[in-house]
Amino acid sequence: MNPLDLSVEELDDILKLANDIEAHPQEYAHKCDGLKLATLFYEPSTRTRLSFEAAMLNLGGKVLGFSSADSSSASKGESISDTIRVVSSYADICAIRHPKEGAPLVASTKSGIPIINAGDGGHQHPTQTLTDLLTIHSLKGRLDNLTIGLCGDLKFGRTVHSLIHAMIRYPNVRFILISPEELRIPSYMREDVLDRNHIDYREEVRLEDAMPKLDILYMTRVQKERFFNEEDYVRMKDFYILDKKKMELAPKDMLVLHPLPRVNEISVEVDDDPRAVYFQQARYGVYVRMALILTLLKWKDM
Ligand code: NCD
Repeated sequence: MNPLDLSVEELDDILKLANDIEAHPQEYAHKCDGLKLATLFYEPSTRTRLSFEAAMLNLGGKVLGFSSADSSSASKGESISDTIRVVSSYADICAIRHPKEGAPLVASTKSGIPIINAGDGGHQHPTQTLTDLLTIHSLKGRLDNLTIGLCGDLKFGRTVHSLIHAMIRYPNVRFILISPEELRIPSYMREDVLDRNHIDYREEVRLEDAMPKLDILYMTRVQKERFFNEEDYVRMKDFYILDKKKMELAPKDMLVLHPLPRVNEISVEVDDDPRAVYFQQARYGVYVRMALILTLLKWKDM
């Protein structure tokens, strides 16, 4: 499942379903009785794996899986294709996180059950994007007519790549891409996605310059695990620190999102600002994953 596998109408249906689940959780508590979700996580995760598992448990289903490559037969050299052929007969739906770009896609070609990409290397993270869309839609009331500042590691930050892919499909969305020179958005995103679709965007280095114009500020962590050497990471890691002083430059109704985990890029003093919604965002992740699981299992026929 990639954001572009879903039409805007299908995306909107998932968001509506997620809002309904939030409002009436009891009505969904047994929709997945007797069904199983497998979570195959070859890379660390807190929110994504646990929110998938919470989502399936909230729907009455069960979960099985592993949370690191070391505890799976990948450590013995098994390919993801073989693993998924086997898991297809143990579970009804599967979420995969993998350090290699494209691994969940490869798995989906060998799978007898729906496969959800729960993050593949520095490439995409579509279910985080569903979470982000639900957060923006629920708290801002719209997904169009927005100026979105994406700040931090735009090179390796897969959440940013998926969010851009999804948001360019809504009218009048502009991006300000805020990053150090070394962590600019990859050229395939700039040329094949932004330029090709005639999207209004510009690149900036200083967060302060962008702040006053933003409806949404999407902060990201510098992706330590994707750096080739520690020195470069150390040089980059504290490039942006959002603090109270910088928040004074922002509009009163700007929202601050972050996929989490946060390291230093948002000072804890910002957490009490009503515009800081990243913990709410993490909560929305459960509802939207419940909606996605139901949709992929074609719950209307269940
Ligand atoms: C993100 C990821 O894994 O890409 N985390 C998450 O799933 N919420 C962001 C990150 O790790 O920085």
